[in-house]
Amino acid sequence: MKPTGIIYIIAFFLALSVHNANNASLSIYEQKKYKQFLEGQGLYTAEDDVVILTVHNFKTEVMGSPQAWVVEFYNSWCGFCQRFAPSWKALGTDVKGWSDLVKIAALDCSVDDNTPICREYEIMAYPTLRYFHENYVPGPQNIGVVVTKGDDVNSHRHFLIERMMTEQMEQRGLMYPNLLPYTHSDTSHLFDSIPHSTQYGFLIIEEPETYLGAEVALDLHKTPNIIVRYAFSNNSDLVSHFRINKFPVVISLDHNNNHQIFNIGSNSREQLKAVIGNFLLSKRIKVTDDTPKNKEIFTGKWLDAEVPDMSSLIQERARQALKERIKKMGDVVFQMDLETALRFSLKHEVATVKTIQGEKLDVLKNYLTILRKYFPFGQGGQLFLSELLMAVSNTNQIKGSKVAEIISRAEEEDSLVFSSPQQWLACKGSSPSYRGYPCGLWKLFHYLTVNAADQNINNRIANPLEVLGVMHGYVKNFFGCADCSQHFQDMALKKGMRNVSSLDSSVLWLWMAHNEVNKRLAGDQTEDPEYPKYQFPMKERCPQCRNGDNTWNLVEVFRYMKHMYSNINVRYIGSDTRILHVGLEGKSAASGPGSVFKALDMSMCFILYVCSFLLLTVLIRMFLKRGYRKKPYVHDLLGKV
Ligand SMILES: Cc1cc2nc3c(=O)[nH]c(=O)nc-3n(C[C@H](O)[C@H](O)[C@H](O)COP(=O)(O)OP(=O)(O)OC[C@H]3O[C@@H](n4cnc5c(N)ncnc54)[C@H](O)[C@@H]3O)c2cc1C
Ligand SMILES: *[C@@H]1O[C@H](CO)[C@@H](O)[C@H](O)[C@H]1NC(C)=O
Ligand SMILES: *[C@@H]1O[C@H](CO)[C@@H](O)[C@H](O)[C@H]1NC(C)=O
Ligand SMILES: *[C@@H]1O[C@H](CO)[C@@H](O)[C@H](O)[C@H]1NC(C)=O
Repeated sequence: MKPTGIIYIIAFFLALSVHNANNASLSIYEQKKYKQFLEGQGLYTAEDDVVILTVHNFKTEVMGSPQAWVVEFYNSWCGFCQRFAPSWKALGTDVKGWSDLVKIAALDCSVDDNTPICREYEIMAYPTLRYFHENYVPGPQNIGVVVTKGDDVNSHRHFLIERMMTEQMEQRGLMYPNLLPYTHSDTSHLFDSIPHSTQYGFLIIEEPETYLGAEVALDLHKTPNIIVRYAFSNNSDLVSHFRINKFPVVISLDHNNNHQIFNIGSNSREQLKAVIGNFLLSKRIKVTDDTPKNKEIFTGKWLDAEVPDMSSLIQERARQALKERIKKMGDVVFQMDLETALRFSLKHEVATVKTIQGEKLDVLKNYLTILRKYFPFGQGGQLFLSELLMAVSNTNQIKGSKVAEIISRAEEEDSLVFSSPQQWLACKGSSPSYRGYPCGLWKLFHYLTVNAADQNINNRIANPLEVLGVMHGYVKNFFGCADCSQHFQDMALKKGMRNVSSLDSSVLWLWMAHNEVNKRLAGDQTEDPEYPKYQFPMKERCPQCRNGDNTWNLVEVFRYMKHMYSNINVRYIGSDTRILHVGLEGKSAASGPGSVFKALDMSMCFILYVCSFLLLTVLIRMFLKRGYRKKPYVHDLLGKV
């Protein structure tokens, strides 16, 4: 071993021991793991009353737990999930007092490490809510029960209560207070089969389809020596016995059959609790209610309090400079974004399906086929796509985990498949929850439509839907954002996607469709403030794309699309082009649009080809001898995806 190697190793161990001296009991790996719980992940932070689950703690927390769990499986880039998160956090706070009974949690399926969990639990649409009962034992037959999504904290809570009631009807959820309506015609059964120490009973009578009684029973379940039940106003015997004509009311009862009736002005959970609280106070019983009135404010970070030092300031400036440079480059496509979109798509959307079969399998085959024809890969990437295609051909099903295996081999440093780190460049948002994957997927499909049109310029029998059809199938079967998928399918119908009659017009169809989405989302809360939605292309970038009367000049738009998304216009900032050029050896489709060469004299072309081939071989030899290393600087600046 060379002396430098030894020095590196010593330095490494030195660094490690210095690091560990801070906290002898935690390995670096564990610190990373805890950091996620302490600081948050995806759309949730440690400040929220939502338990953050990850691959590290999902099983240990949920399995065999004395509480039930309601887990939101989501994807941090999905617009619907972003709009959903605030109300889910609000639910976490709202039912914080029930956390010894049921826990509110979230798991981010867009994090690489978490994908095996999302696959195992067959999460196909985001967000998905699943209820796991107490003492849950994982197994293929038990992947939790879907809970209906509400659209605000109240509807979330009502759907949760309905689930909890169903659980009790099925003899689970026995740790909950009794949540089923009281159906007897008098109050003599109120104290049946409950501890004898119970001193007071409260019977709430409310209109059907309201949840006040169950909410109050849950809020007050820790208060000793009381029982809270509810009945509906259609329990006519009970209602006429107490001569009640306005709802809701609370009736307090004791063992001697003394009772008092309290009218509550409105359907207010707080007022109901106040009435019960005052009654108990007069009996010298203090109510235990852990439902927070005001959210506690989290202060300070627990780990890694970051003090900006000089080097991070310099990095920050370089990061800003890179961002400005990318923004100035306008609508061009970057290899890094295309590769990152492809990796994300394969790893998080294809490989997360437990078993791929039927329509999904057909779509996957077609997807891989067009990728192999048009994706700008080098030789290594082509081989990777061929291997995947082979694995899904001649079979009627394939496991997602098998696909994941092939991808993870392709991601090894020396496999020469991907030329870029898995990061966003032009699709990078101003914060991690903006842009990213959906932006990359749009770019990928625009790129594919344009390159299909380029490469089939003289092909009279080309299928005009070759790419659009696959995109439609992909979005329908794999795209995780459930509402986007539905919108896109509706649009395909309404805007006649199937009527597209040439590959050229498929380019324009997708441009039009994307602009429809841009129009709908302009000003939406999921919009990145630094990248507002606009009708593409911007006037400044293509003045000739609009006529004098501000209508589109489709000929110019088409020209612009063909230019921006063409193979020769792809930019390689941050990518290792050596990996892509290895592909020139073969006659892969990715080596460039045939049309460029057609104009040249063929013999001239041949000489050029041989020369460049020789030069490249020499260069590659040189580089390989030095050892293959990815360029470090750009992806260090980009931060995590
Ligand atoms: C199929 C699909 C359907 C979607 N449906 C929804 C939905 O229903 N609801 C929702 O909230 N989100 C939806 N999204 C996500 C949404 O469209 C955006 O991708 C996301 O909000 C990120 O926006 P962005 O600013 O990065 O720009 P994006 O819209 O993602 O655009 C990415 C880049 O493409 C280029 N571009 C923009 N417009 C065009 C165009 N017309 N033609 C060619 N190139 C263009 C620009 O360079 C732009 O920066 C969908 C995404 C996809 C892929
Ligand atoms: C290390 O971290 C753990 C968990 O955060 C903590 O309980 C312990 O006290 C720490 N030990 C030291 C030496 O700081
Ligand atoms: C009263 O209303 C509830 C809730 O809508 C319903 O389930 C129940 O069957 C009704 N009972 C009677 C006696 O009508
Ligand atoms: C698509 O074509 C069919 C038949 O040619 C026609 O009836 C339909 O209106 C077209 N749809 C659109 C949206 O153009």
